[in-house]
Amino acid sequence: MFKKIFAPAAPVQKEESIQPQLKAVPRHIAVIMDGNGRWAKERGKPRTFGHRAGGQNLKTILRCCARLGVEALTAYAFSTENWKRPLTEVDFIMELFASYLDSEVAELDANNVQLRFSGDRSRLAPSLQKKMAAAEASLAHNTGIVLNLAVNYGGRAEIIRAAQKLAAQVKAGELRPEEIDEARFEAELYTAGLPAPDLLIRTGGDLRVSNFLLWQIAYAELWTTQVYWPDFTPQLLEEALLAYQKRDRRYGGLNTKP
Ligand code: IPE
Ligand code: IPE
Ligand code: MG
Repeated sequence: MFKKIFAPAAPVQKEESIQPQLKAVPRHIAVIMDGNGRWAKERGKPRTFGHRAGGQNLKTILRCCARLGVEALTAYAFSTENWKRPLTEVDFIMELFASYLDSEVAELDANNVQLRFSGDRSRLAPSLQKKMAAAEASLAHNTGIVLNLAVNYGGRAEIIRAAQKLAAQVKAGELRPEEIDEARFEAELYTAGLPAPDLLIRTGGDLRVSNFLLWQIAYAELWTTQVYWPDFTPQLLEEALLAYQKRDRRYGGLNTKP
């Protein structure tokens, strides 16, 4: 069954095939799609060429995740720190989002995909904000995988925003400080309602989280590859999932082996 999902996968050892038990498939995968620029540079192309290829690849990986029964895929598309890049690159990435929304919403809908965005939209162009809201609304009736695109997202900014929202509720007399617990805090994060990521994948070889989902990845399993995002294939996703299935998730406790 899984062979089909990853086709045309290279043959894998029988015992290495992903186990179809639901518990073994991450409910939520988060991915730091890094390495687009270096991928393009290696090909003698401008960095923007890599972003375009990276955007295409997200479609492939989303399809795989959906077929596997993953409930949510959070993809880091643009960080609060990425504004430091040259304006031409930032503008290109913003144009890419807009054209992705224009061209993909119908197919996302046909595949029962729900769409969310995590991040501060207020700094984005009003026309892009409009497209984002329209896309979310037109896919809101779907019941399949949630594609959560992190756009102008920063984990620290998200935590500050949640703190401000709770402080405002306290000030308004709607909440007592001692009522603030993890559940109430999580309810103010962009990811409210999604399970915490089980697996965090970073492509491009760097071993850092770069301000991604700082709260949510408390107990995520980490998996990294040197491979640049545009070259991250379904076969590599399979590799990540096989590694994930072998992890012993203890959450600070002790797992007694049978
Ligand atoms: C990730 O690829 C995409 C974004 C940050 C928008 P990069 O653009 O960071 O590519 P590298 O890491 O410079 O190769
Ligand atoms: C992380 O990649 C952000 C995205 C993939 C959108 P960066 O390329 O911005 O991260 P750093 O600068 O290497 O930490
Ligand atoms: Mg990078």
